[in-house]
Amino acid sequence: MKIFSGIQPTNQLHIGNYLGAIAQWIDLQKDNECIFWIADLHALTVPYQAKELQKRTLEVVATYLATGIDPEKSIIFRQSDVKEHSELAWLLSTITPVGDLERMTQFKDKSQKHKANINAGLLNYPVLMAADILLYQSNRVPVGIDQKQHIELARTIAKKFNKKFGETFIVPEGLYSKLGAKIMSLKEPTKKMSKSDSPDSFISLFDSPEQIKKKIASATTDSLKSVKYNPEKQPGIANLLTIYSLFAEQLIKEIEKEFANKGYAEFKQGLALLLIKKLKPFRDKKEEIAKNPELLKDILENGAKKARLIAQLTMQKVKQAMGLV
Ligand code: ADP
Ligand code: TRP
Repeated sequence: MKIFSGIQPTNQLHIGNYLGAIAQWIDLQKDNECIFWIADLHALTVPYQAKELQKRTLEVVATYLATGIDPEKSIIFRQSDVKEHSELAWLLSTITPVGDLERMTQFKDKSQKHKANINAGLLNYPVLMAADILLYQSNRVPVGIDQKQHIELARTIAKKFNKKFGETFIVPEGLYSKLGAKIMSLKEPTKKMSKSDSPDSFISLFDSPEQIKKKIASATTDSLKSVKYNPEKQPGIANLLTIYSLFAEQLIKEIEKEFANKGYAEFKQGLALLLIKKLKPFRDKKEEIAKNPELLKDILENGAKKARLIAQLTMQKVKQAMGLV
């Protein structure tokens, strides 16, 4: 099976990115052909600092390695190193209705958030995303549930292209983790945890023990005073229980039992200690990797060479099919 997924270099990655996406990748890496890459072209659609982008890209590579992605097993590359992504995006945009792009939730949300910068790239984002996936003839795309609408559109575009120009693309399927596909914000537990919100609302994979304790202690809960999984009435506690369950690899029912008759403060303390313990190996590994920035650049260079070969092969097929050669 060919597995393909990427993350934008927009900020430090958080436990939502890990539980929704990366944790699945680590499992899939064992028995599949995997490509895990950095979506830097996508990151240009929202305001950013040009000077910071390269650093952030290398940081995402370091995060991949620190969490267990193995460059010997999986291809790791930077999107902008493979020009076929932009080329295919243009071609696919010619068969994508504007209406389909305008109804994307992410487009609506980001246009709302960046009113002064509603650029065409923001609207075309899902076409570039479809190009990413289809270029590598990917079978499965492991992502968080927030990306489902984009994956469905990529499927629609692939089917439409195949019908119009002849069988060219594999129609990909999204892969969503059962429990971790949507980790919520610590501050507003009815919204998803996001790197672009305030740092208090997420736990970064490299937060210090002090930061973890502080953020979990101040996470929004409720006044019901019972550690029970009830997302409707107790969204904050339900989210913390989900995080606990995934990191401890323990059923929510068991955790509820363990904390029955105990207060929220005790539960939060238990969760903070668990997170400190589980995230420590990531922090240690990242510190070690940071000593060798050349290694990260080498990985990207090697990865780009391999990625280009696959992408070029698909582009030849596409051009043939569309009458461009
Ligand atoms: P963010 O929204 O925090 O900027 P990205 O859009 O870069 O994160 O997402 C990177 C990956 O992490 C995607 O597969 C996305 O679906 C997943 N992801 C992002 N936020 C969450 C979350 N809160 N819960 C689960 N998965 C998430
Ligand atoms: N849109 C994804 C996100 O915000 C990043 C992304 C771009 C992606 N292209 C992709 C993920 C292709 C999987 C496959 O997280």
